[in-house]
Amino acid sequence: MELYLLTGYNGFYGQSRKPWVSLSTPTLIKELRVCGLTVHTADWHDLASGSFNPRDCNILYTFSQLTHIRDWLKDQLHFLAERNRLIPSLPLLLCHENKGYAWLYQKSKGIDTPRAWYLCDPRDIPSDLPYPIVLKTISGTNARGVFLCRGHQELLDRIKALVPAISPTVKLDHLRRRYLRGGRTYPGYPGFEPKRDADDWLQYMRPGAAFLLQEYISGLDCDYRVIAIGSKFYLMRRLTKGGDFRASGTKRFDFEAAPPAGLLDYARSIAQRFDTPFLSLDIGHKGGNNYLFEFQASHFGTAAIVRSQGYYRQVSGSWEFCKGGSSLEQTLAEGLAEYLRGQVN
Ligand SMILES: Nc1ncnc2c1ncn2[C@@H]1O[C@H](COP(=O)(O)OP(=O)(O)O)[C@@H](O)[C@H]1O
Ligand SMILES: [Mg+2]
Repeated sequence: MELYLLTGYNGFYGQSRKPWVSLSTPTLIKELRVCGLTVHTADWHDLASGSFNPRDCNILYTFSQLTHIRDWLKDQLHFLAERNRLIPSLPLLLCHENKGYAWLYQKSKGIDTPRAWYLCDPRDIPSDLPYPIVLKTISGTNARGVFLCRGHQELLDRIKALVPAISPTVKLDHLRRRYLRGGRTYPGYPGFEPKRDADDWLQYMRPGAAFLLQEYISGLDCDYRVIAIGSKFYLMRRLTKGGDFRASGTKRFDFEAAPPAGLLDYARSIAQRFDTPFLSLDIGHKGGNNYLFEFQASHFGTAAIVRSQGYYRQVSGSWEFCKGGSSLEQTLAEGLAEYLRGQVN
């Protein structure tokens, strides 16, 4: 089975400890070969120059959190996806660092709790929204863009705080358009009227922000990070602190926690619906129910893999804990090989 590994500059394939830390790419390639895969490599230079132009190939790609590279990569990979199999798949690429698209995607896969609303303007906030409600910025990590809003006014204030103020340059330009363009006409557009046009322009230039609203699951003192790599499920419990509902970013990890009943089945049912060998899930568990707060198929934190004592896997219908560590590169390579052979259960 053939595979292209598309790395960043200098063989970068992320992420390891942090987004800017690469895995050992030579080790990853070695492990992929141990799994029986024929591995070719290309990097972003090859993508930029157009010399990387494969057809009917499996492409495992690295990604980036940096906005300009992320946008560029999305454009490039979008076209590669027309003729090749992207790993993770194209929709999961679009989910990355985009909680809005991620919600639309998970909903299309039948995963619709907690309920969410992906909006671009406060006027679309439903009148029957259940409060308190969780407001999330579209990108962001470590809970920096996640807020609890107790009522409609607090929600509006929070959204407003996410939006930058109109810049002095825009304000000045508005005055110029309004008061210094008295004689201006536009041939073919007899309706042009400078004052109204200036006000319409200002309205159009008003900064805004898209955002996600998510039903609040109250009373949790932790969430669970489950990382599914092929048929292996790594678990880590993350504790909240100081009356704050957010477990992400607290750095209070528990790698020994036993999974609550049904949690791993839930994680597995999601992994089976998403087209990827690697999936990181942030799950809330309450009253026997599971709630998907967030997921990533690439560039997720890997602590649950490297710091836990082992992983869970299903054997004859029940979950078994398999003790023992393996390197990140080996784990990813084996998970990918399983996925490509269609052996993930
Ligand atoms: N709908 C929710 N109800 C209750 N707690 C939530 C909800 N969404 C997120 N959280 C908490 O907030 C944390 C951060 O949210 P998350 O969407 O994972 O953002 P981030 O990308 O910053 O990690 C989660 O780890 C969880 O503890
Ligand atoms: Mg999270």
